[in-house]
Parts: sequence; structure tokens; C-alpha cells
Amino acid sequence: MMANLNVKRQVNVNNNDEFLKDILTGFSERQKRLPCKYFYDERGSHLFDEICKTEEYYHTRTELKILDDALPTIAGMIGPNADILEFGSGAGIKIRKLIDALETPRSYCPIDISEEILLHSSRKLKKHYPELLIHPIVADYLSPIDLHDTFATESEHRKLVFFPGSTISNFDLPEAIHFLKHIRSLLTAGDVLLIGVDLLKPEPILLAAYNDRTGVTAAFNRNILDRIAATYQTNLEPGLFCHRAIYNAEKHRIEMHLVSTCEQTVEVEGESFHFRKLESIHTENSYKFSLEGFRMMGMNAGFDQTAVFTDEESLFSVHYLTAH
Ligand SMILES: C[S@@+](CC[C@H](N)C(=O)[O-])C[C@H]1O[C@@H](n2cnc3c(N)ncnc32)[C@H](O)[C@@H]1O
Repeated sequence: MMANLNVKRQVNVNNNDEFLKDILTGFSERQKRLPCKYFYDERGSHLFDEICKTEEYYHTRTELKILDDALPTIAGMIGPNADILEFGSGAGIKIRKLIDALETPRSYCPIDISEEILLHSSRKLKKHYPELLIHPIVADYLSPIDLHDTFATESEHRKLVFFPGSTISNFDLPEAIHFLKHIRSLLTAGDVLLIGVDLLKPEPILLAAYNDRTGVTAAFNRNILDRIAATYQTNLEPGLFCHRAIYNAEKHRIEMHLVSTCEQTVEVEGESFHFRKLESIHTENSYKFSLEGFRMMGMNAGFDQTAVFTDEESLFSVHYLTAH
């Protein structure tokens, strides 16, 4: 089944000591916080896929529609034999559209922290595209990843980094520029970054998207606490926290929080943390951009905006950025 699939794992990825360190540090801050990468274990990835199907979550269906419309043009611009790298590949739905549109893509290197979904989607892809070289890497893309033999900078083929889903929105702005610069360092002039970016829009649309009626976003948010409760010695009761998503208009971002429904003391591996009633743990940011704002960010990181594609309502955008 895994024939021809050479899976690499970053040293220390999904390491429980690092998770514990991040919990203890995050719970000690004045605004308690947890890094959003910990949403994504097998269950979290499954819940994220469910979010993508909700009526309110416009991102996925809009980006898919933009890709459907723009991919013939994009494929013509990229040309044949591309080597593709995708950060946060998840269920691998969007990459199929890209592979189908491109002329004889040569290789595909999906990177994700969520091992089960990465392996599952890579196996399915290999079955569907037996000729494509697939190099899955289980890794935290916030730490250095060895791309030797998978997405080598010295390759003579056109390189394409695919980063859909507006995952870039989860980075604070300086880190987003830093990450774009890191992507630029993997490319040579003329190579391409194809990136999905969520746009500024009226607040009610945003609030609805992160507070869906079925409650799946709430379950996704709380999954981070479920993980803590399942992994460590703790009295943490995820049911004593509720989901809250707000729009921070000053910072142009949705913030997800888990709010303590009562005054409580949570112990994790022998360390105690006091929560006031209604005190929150900040779990995720999702920044919203203007087209011009994101173009400037790309410029700062070493990319020219060759083309940008949006939907009729300007909800979402896909940027074709060329390394300069
Ligand atoms: C918002 S989802 C987007 C999924 C998919 N790209 C899409 O467009 O629907 C973020 C993806 O990035 C992965 N991810 C989040 N943080 C990560 C990290 N630090 N390192 C590697 N993968 C990460 C998650 O497992 C998830 O698959």
C-alpha cells in the first residue's frame, strides 16, 4: 500500500515534552494562550474538515471556486514538470485540482503536523497519480525541515510552493513576513508561491463563519483541551470551557478563545493555574487582509504579485507571487 511512498519525519515532531512546555508557558501568561498547531491531531483534522463543509465557512468553497476558474490560466503560467511543495496540506483536496490542471507535474512534497491525515491523503494521491513522485513529510513547519531530496533548491525544474486555506492568517504579522521570507529562501528567482488569503469583509459574515450553528468550530476549539486531558496528569475538564470567537477590528483578526465558565484551578503535571470566571485562553488568530496589504507583504518578503484571483463577492483571494 505504501509502495513508493517514502515518508519523512522531522525529529521531535509531535513531541509531548514540547507540548507540555507550551502549555505551562502559555497558561502562565497574563492572557493565557495555546499555540493553534495543537488543534491538529487526528480528531482535530477531522473536525477541521467538517468546519470546511459548514454553510457559514465560506473560505473553502470560495477558494475551490476561484481555483476552478483560475487554474487553466495558472497552469499555463507555471508550465510543465513543476516540483510542488505544500505547507499544511491537510486532507489534500485542493492539490488535486492543481495537479489535474498542471502539465506533467514532476513531484509533490506535502508537509503537515497531523500525521494520520497526511499519510491518508498521500496514499490516496499516490493511488490516483502513480507517476507523480510524492514525498510526505510529517513536520512542524515552524521548525527547520530537511528538504534534501524532496524539494531541493538546486533542482532545474520550476518550483511551486502551494499554501492554500489562508493558513498564513494564523501567523502574527511579523511572523507571517518571516514565514514568507522562509518560503522565498526555498525558491530561486522566477519560481512561484500560490497562496490563498482571506479578505477583509463585514463583521457579521466573519462572526458567523467562526461560530457555526452546528457547533463544530466549538468542538474543534475545545479539542485542544481534550488533547491536554488525554495526554497529561491533569484535572482539566474541557466541558468547563466554552468557545468564543470575536472580531478584533483594530487588528483585523478573528480571535478564538476558550472561556472558563467558572472560577477554577487547573493542574497540569503538578503545576497549578488559576482561572477567574470568564477568563479566557487565546487559541487562534485569523488575520484578514486587503488585496493591496497582502501584495505589500509579499513584496517585503521577496515576491512580485504576478496575478491575483478573487470571487465575485471579494470574500477570498488566491495570489500568484513570483520570486524576484
Ligand atoms: C487551516 S488548515 C488548512 C488545510 C488545507 N491546506 C486547506 O486549505 O483546507 C491548516 C493545516 O495546516 C496544518 N498545520 C497547522 N499548523 C502546522 C504546523 N505548525 N506545522 C505543520 N502543519 C501545520 C494543519 O494540520 C492543517 O492541515
